[in-house]
Amino acid sequence: MLRDMLAKLENADDVTLYPSGLAAITGAILALTSAGDEVLAVDTIYGPTRRFFEGMLRRFGVTTRYFAPEATADDIAGLLTEKTRLIFLESPGSLTFEIQDVPAIAAMARKAGVLTIIDNSYAAGVLFKPLDHGVDVSVQALTKYVCGHSDAFMGMAAAKGPSVTLLKAAYREVGWMVSPDDAYTAIRGLRTLCTRMAQHAASAQTVATWMQVQPQVRTVLCPALPDDPNHRIWARDFSGINGLVGFEFHPEYADQVEAFLNSLKVFGLGYSWGGFESLAINANPQLKQRVCRDGIETGPLIRLHTGLENVDDLISDLAQAFDGLVVNAESPRTDLQHANAV
Ligand SMILES: Cc1ncc(COP(=O)(O)O)c(C=O)c1O
Repeated sequence: MLRDMLAKLENADDVTLYPSGLAAITGAILALTSAGDEVLAVDTIYGPTRRFFEGMLRRFGVTTRYFAPEATADDIAGLLTEKTRLIFLESPGSLTFEIQDVPAIAAMARKAGVLTIIDNSYAAGVLFKPLDHGVDVSVQALTKYVCGHSDAFMGMAAAKGPSVTLLKAAYREVGWMVSPDDAYTAIRGLRTLCTRMAQHAASAQTVATWMQVQPQVRTVLCPALPDDPNHRIWARDFSGINGLVGFEFHPEYADQVEAFLNSLKVFGLGYSWGGFESLAINANPQLKQRVCRDGIETGPLIRLHTGLENVDDLISDLAQAFDGLVVNAESPRTDLQHANAV
């Protein structure tokens, strides 16, 4: 039943289920690649996806090269070799929310006989339908918005066309399973998904707009803001935002990131997102894994997940955390290395 519901959500021919979002990502990649192949991946992928590319996948003879999130379909076409089997996308990018031109990249890949997978966890299958735009496989961490209550792990790969057979064959060979209780949790989450997403989006928009006028904030990362560099493609392809918002402090607050996070009372500290509760993390340690540094803002960066709490409480919490900060005018630190050292 869950597979049927998710296939409708993603407009897929079929869906395979996995015990976590990361298992869905690695499972789909294992199903579609063989030793000697090469993968091209966007540089702004979720950190553990890169760990898999550089760890087990490389050990099994599949190499990965990375392209910047602003690379056009033509730029990526220029990177293809006879070994390229797969292009891996994540749009918006993890932590910094760059939007890729997915329809153009998928069309180019299809013409070249190269498969495409996208991590569609941000959109939860609601805000963007990758398979309608020519992508072969859409993967989601159902752990996030579909389950929605931070009490279950699960992932899925939704596919159209010949990839379905490959996914199902690998699924049986490896023996991935999900428990009936977890599947029930995801079915229950699907029943309130759109209502929750709308609330997350409304609160995230309010928080992002408020953040823009805070004196401590240099940049707010949210594709729904009209002056965000990703706004045009986001408005063309997406029907909304989720609850994630990033913001960059002015450099003189680089040594205040921990103090800010520790003084939050409504926002918890946590790497996951998509549940009912608001969470915050320091994004800098993960940013340093990237290889295409050009164009990436390097200030002290925090990622917020705006949950389902009253948005006034969220803003009050952020305001009191900003109020407690002390400016360190003597040692302004501007580069990523210094921010990471915090
Ligand atoms: C973009 C993205 N994809 C995949 C995952 C992995 O999901 P899971 O925690 O279910 O393995 C995460 C988790 O944070 C994520 O942020």
